[in-house]
Amino acid sequence: MWRFAQVLALLISITGCNGSPLKHFADHAVVLNHTKQTKDCYDYIIVGGGTSGLVVANRLTENPHTTVLVIERGYIDGQDNGTTVPGLSVPNKYLNKDTSVPQPGLNNRTAPLYTGDVVGGGTVVNGMFFARGARADYDAWEQLGNPGWGWDGLLPYFKKSETFTPPIEGIQEMFPGIISTDLEPHGINGPVGSSFSNYQYPVIKNFFAGWKSIGVAINSQPNDGEATGAFYSTISAYAKDQSRSHASNAYYRPIANVRKNLHLVTGHLVTKINFDQELRAVSVDFVSRTTNETSTVGAGREIIMAAGAARTPQILQLSGIGPQPLLSSLGIETIVDLPGVGSNFQDQPTLYMQFSYSNYTFPTPDWVLSNASWAAEQLAIYYKNRTGPMTIPYLGGSTVAFLPLQNITSQYRSLVKSMSSTNLSSLLLSTDSTSGYAAQIKILQAVYSSSHAAVAEIAWEGGDTIPLAMIRPYSRGAIYINTTDPLAAPVVNFNTFSHPMDIAVAIASVKKIRGWASSPPMQALGTVETFPGRNVSTDTQIEEAIRDAATSSWQHPSSTTAMMKREWGGVVDAELRVYGTKGLRIVDAGIFPMVVAGHSSSSVYAVAEKAADIIKAGWQEIMRDHIQHK
Ligand SMILES: Cc1cc2nc3c(=O)[nH]c(=O)nc-3n(C[C@H](O)[C@H](O)[C@H](O)COP(=O)(O)OP(=O)(O)OC[C@H]3O[C@@H](n4cnc5c(N)ncnc54)[C@H](O)[C@@H]3O)c2cc1C
Ligand SMILES: *[C@@H]1O[C@H](CO)[C@@H](O)[C@H](O)[C@H]1NC(C)=O
Ligand SMILES: *[C@@H]1O[C@H](CO)[C@@H](O)[C@H](O)[C@H]1NC(C)=O
Ligand SMILES: *[C@@H]1O[C@H](CO)[C@@H](O)[C@H](O)[C@H]1NC(C)=O
Ligand SMILES: *[C@@H]1O[C@H](CO)[C@@H](O)[C@H](O)[C@H]1NC(C)=O
Ligand SMILES: *[C@@H]1O[C@H](CO)[C@@H](O)[C@H](O)[C@H]1NC(C)=O
Ligand SMILES: *[C@@H]1O[C@H](CO)[C@@H](O)[C@H](O)[C@H]1NC(C)=O
Ligand SMILES: *[C@@H]1O[C@H](CO)[C@@H](O)[C@H](O)[C@H]1NC(C)=O
Ligand SMILES: *[C@@H]1O[C@H](CO)[C@@H](O)[C@H](O)[C@H]1NC(C)=O
Ligand SMILES: *[C@@H]1O[C@H](CO)[C@@H](O)[C@H](O)[C@H]1NC(C)=O
Ligand SMILES: *[C@@H]1O[C@H](CO)[C@@H](O)[C@H](O)[C@H]1NC(C)=O
Ligand SMILES: *[C@@H]1O[C@H](CO)[C@@H](O)[C@H](O)[C@H]1NC(C)=O
Repeated sequence: MWRFAQVLALLISITGCNGSPLKHFADHAVVLNHTKQTKDCYDYIIVGGGTSGLVVANRLTENPHTTVLVIERGYIDGQDNGTTVPGLSVPNKYLNKDTSVPQPGLNNRTAPLYTGDVVGGGTVVNGMFFARGARADYDAWEQLGNPGWGWDGLLPYFKKSETFTPPIEGIQEMFPGIISTDLEPHGINGPVGSSFSNYQYPVIKNFFAGWKSIGVAINSQPNDGEATGAFYSTISAYAKDQSRSHASNAYYRPIANVRKNLHLVTGHLVTKINFDQELRAVSVDFVSRTTNETSTVGAGREIIMAAGAARTPQILQLSGIGPQPLLSSLGIETIVDLPGVGSNFQDQPTLYMQFSYSNYTFPTPDWVLSNASWAAEQLAIYYKNRTGPMTIPYLGGSTVAFLPLQNITSQYRSLVKSMSSTNLSSLLLSTDSTSGYAAQIKILQAVYSSSHAAVAEIAWEGGDTIPLAMIRPYSRGAIYINTTDPLAAPVVNFNTFSHPMDIAVAIASVKKIRGWASSPPMQALGTVETFPGRNVSTDTQIEEAIRDAATSSWQHPSSTTAMMKREWGGVVDAELRVYGTKGLRIVDAGIFPMVVAGHSSSSVYAVAEKAADIIKAGWQEIMRDHIQHK
């Protein structure tokens, strides 16, 4: 029989928290403004209180005996109207902006990379588009050597994270047959609201009719693994009050004043992970954003990286986990030579086309920007009634066409074939693994030939701007530090359009969009392309316009710490453990081996839910082993 004291001694010996005396610390998950309130040691430290970090923090602290500290660079959002009303723009103070190095594929222009800088991360500031990727996206992850990470393995976690609510009757009547109300593919009891705006601009009918008239299928159920065709997407909002649902109000606020085993430090940046002789991650250094005061806190069991695809590789590199030549050049001692840290970077290049409409008499979404009195009226209606255009995400909307290559160009077979001779090693940045890249390209070649996987996304909320995103890129970039200053941004290199497939898809898609804009339903609105403009007509002219105007990011950075074989440039194994270390995992969008062809937030939630189960199971296994060996 185990005595309590023995169990406690065992726990302490395993956890390494060493029973050090506790400082005076807060008794529940309040925001700690200074580090004097923290304990010296927690079972788990989560680096980054963004989307993935808060999911894992919530799930791990379901056990009241498990202590968790989350360290987040940003602050708690003030529940400002800008983060709750879908139709308002988000305050800049919650956004971090990095600027890339000049991109040769964009005629040497730079491109911004926006991420969340707030508790809740990207989901507090994002466009609220909330659809899953295609079955093929996740099955590709599994094919890259990660059992359990295919569509079937992730589906329970997509469901676990959401509460889905079908659209109100008015919307269903307006778009008959366009939106499935089937609950089966969805979760109905999870923390994140997944629903639909209860208002829509009437011209969205022309959007669907236009695509249909040129042979694009209308898909009423894009969330069951078939994310193709023209569809009306779910958004991350609570159906009841039509307000934004994000990681902070879904996973943090409900437990903030309840669980005494969760602490959150805001306004602090983690600068370094410290390792013991056995390469176990044992503590983190972090610095106050306001006072520059530095602190160290210990982790008894694990340190969990959740600083996002742009910052997790930076922190690892600063800590000596990364490509040895890079680390040596900066005088950083290499703890583990892991060339993949920061490489395999993916985002989705985007071109914003412009149109005008001479026979468009309804209020348009652009009125929110251009007609202040109208916008004020709509806002008042929203506050009073939770209806109207302000229920539609700012510059967002939710009507899209997700096109497989064969639905963009009839030349798709020859286009895919022509890419098989591309010299991949000539395209990669310094430390990328050619074999890992080749394995991914082999999968992409098959996926680009499939009718069940989209390669381009065209969105329209009814206004002048029509974004075209190349959502399944062949190009790979990198995020590397160039200084040991942890407060400086890392060097962001998207390497946009480095692989010829991506620009080829962009050119073909511009022509496809013209087909849609010229269709009778869109012509009934008097649609005229104003940018690039119809005089930009040859492939060479279109290519030049894209290189002159496109940007590198669709705000879905991923894959910089890929879950893949180590010899392929992977950084974590299928249990999200960082190769060569102990007690260190990554749970953010950096682990996606390939970007999800679509928007990332729903996948980040699902991945983090699965990660939490893996972490819990890992600990139970350690406990079992120890008890058996006693
Ligand atoms: C402007 C914008 C629009 C988007 N639109 C959509 C959309 O419409 N639909 C969709 O599905 N997805 C969208 N996304 C993407 C989606 O929100 C992200 O993929 C997702 O939130 C990423 O989750 P994450 O956990 O990987 O990282 P994040 O949520 O970014 O979390 C990382 C956290 O780590 C913190 N951090 C960084 N460095 C440190 C450090 N050194 N120490 C401590 N903390 C640190 C950050 O402040 C951040 O809170 C958008 C993103 C942005 C930025
Ligand atoms: C942290 O600061 C905020 C804002 O000043 C305050 O509301 C909160 O009570 C403080 N928390 C603690 C634990 O001191
Ligand atoms: C913010 O929202 C509330 C309702 O939730 C409303 O009463 C208030 O007027 C709004 N503030 C501004 C500045 O619009
Ligand atoms: C981009 O910059 C590189 C290096 O400075 C230069 O060789 C190349 O000609 C430039 N390309 C364009 C299109 O200006
Ligand atoms: C793509 O084209 C094929 C063949 O014409 C058609 O069967 C399919 O429905 C189309 N898919 C989409 C998403 O439009
Ligand atoms: C913190 O350090 C930065 C430089 O790294 C400096 O500009 C700033 O003044 C410092 N702030 C405080 C409060 O010391
Ligand atoms: C702006 O909106 C008001 C309604 O608030 C409307 O009466 C007016 O015609 C609009 N102005 C323009 C230029 O569209
Ligand atoms: C308020 O909402 C109800 C339904 O919830 C709707 O019928 C009504 O038109 C709305 N009022 C306004 C001013 O939009
Ligand atoms: C491919 O590119 C690499 C690096 O640029 C080069 O060394 C190699 O010779 C090229 N291979 C072929 C077959 O052209
Ligand atoms: C690091 O790269 C950035 C560009 O991303 C540049 O502005 C900065 O000067 C570089 N810093 C050092 C120390 O080289
Ligand atoms: C302009 O729109 C109206 C109302 O939708 C429609 O009846 C008319 O046919 C359109 N005009 C043209 C030239 O398409
Ligand atoms: C197309 O027309 C626009 C505006 O008249 C002009 O700026 C642009 O240079 C033209 N482009 C081409 C390729 O002719």
